[in-house]
Amino acid sequence: MGGVTGLVLVGGFGTRLRPVTYTVPKQLIPVAGRPILYHALDLLPPEVDRIVLACGYKAEVFEAYLQANPYPRPVKLVRETTPLGTGGGLKNVASEATDPFYLLNGDVIAGFDLEPLSRTLTEEGGLGILGFVEVEDPSPYGVARFDPAGRVVEFVEKPSREAAPSRWINAGVSLWRREVLEAIPPGVAVSFEREILPGLLPRKVLGMRYRAWWEDAGTPARLLNAQALLFDHPRTDRLPAPSRLDGARVLPPIAVGAGSSGEGATVGRYVTLGRNVKLRRGARVENSVVLDAAEIGPGALVKDSVLGPGVVVAPDERLVGVCRALEDPGQKA
Ligand code: GDD
Ligand code: MG
Repeated sequence: MGGVTGLVLVGGFGTRLRPVTYTVPKQLIPVAGRPILYHALDLLPPEVDRIVLACGYKAEVFEAYLQANPYPRPVKLVRETTPLGTGGGLKNVASEATDPFYLLNGDVIAGFDLEPLSRTLTEEGGLGILGFVEVEDPSPYGVARFDPAGRVVEFVEKPSREAAPSRWINAGVSLWRREVLEAIPPGVAVSFEREILPGLLPRKVLGMRYRAWWEDAGTPARLLNAQALLFDHPRTDRLPAPSRLDGARVLPPIAVGAGSSGEGATVGRYVTLGRNVKLRRGARVENSVVLDAAEIGPGALVKDSVLGPGVVVAPDERLVGVCRALEDPGQKA
């Protein structure tokens, strides 16, 4: 089967990953050797033969990346000129939607099989079906309550911990009938989760509760957790060549981009190095993402950190739990 479109929201500012997202949009930060976006797109079942990115912030960076590093399925890019929010962003790509269509947040990774969404929506009917996952603290997410038949009867976006109706959160993957798009006003900024979804519930919205690994890569800690999850659950159909770094002490799993070097350095576990990264002798990198052309000085330590392109770490400097970039307007006086 084919002919289903996957609409993917990637237009946010990535504020919680600043300053790195001043240059690299969140979804293009590599984890386990590939951009978060590509891991997210892997979630879309094989029947999805066309992917449309709803872009806003840094659309030109997505365009250049996709051109230089094509994803295995066709990807079209649609830009919005002003940020329209998740609802407005979806409405802006409405003409691309098939019936039904998948909707995906471009920053989520998961060990989910989405095929049952389509089966359940066909069998039970309704406007759409969303994937949910249970977490310890649901307050940073969209939270649902279900009736015994699995229908969503309440949805609250980012409630306080006390007000959360359950610990089951919107995993950012869903399948919708095309008519849902008529519920979104055109040309204005709207939040799908806050302003549209609650009003759709009387028209039958289903929930699929998954018990599998999942993460939203929206903050440095969550991005690094996403990386660890992806390294620990490699896809069996597309195993990457094991990464090497000549002359370095490697603690797998790691992923190393072309042109990177690390003679006398220690790397791992859970590290992605971009292209042309230089690790000097005695440098150590652990549980981190280090982007293109960064340089880690001799004897320096980088741990639990995300470093943007071209960052230079001084000799013997210790960076633990930092998110740093060359360009950081927040640091200017
Ligand atoms: N096109 C477009 N335009 N995309 C946008 C816009 C916009 O104005 N604003 C945000 N996005 C994109 C983001 O880039 C991201 O890929 C996706 O929409 C979700 O936005 P986030 O900013 O990451 O939202 P969140 O993580 O706080 O919450 C959302 O995801 C959670 C699961 O990861 C909500 O959908 C929650 O309900 C959900 O639990
Ligand atoms: Mg998110």
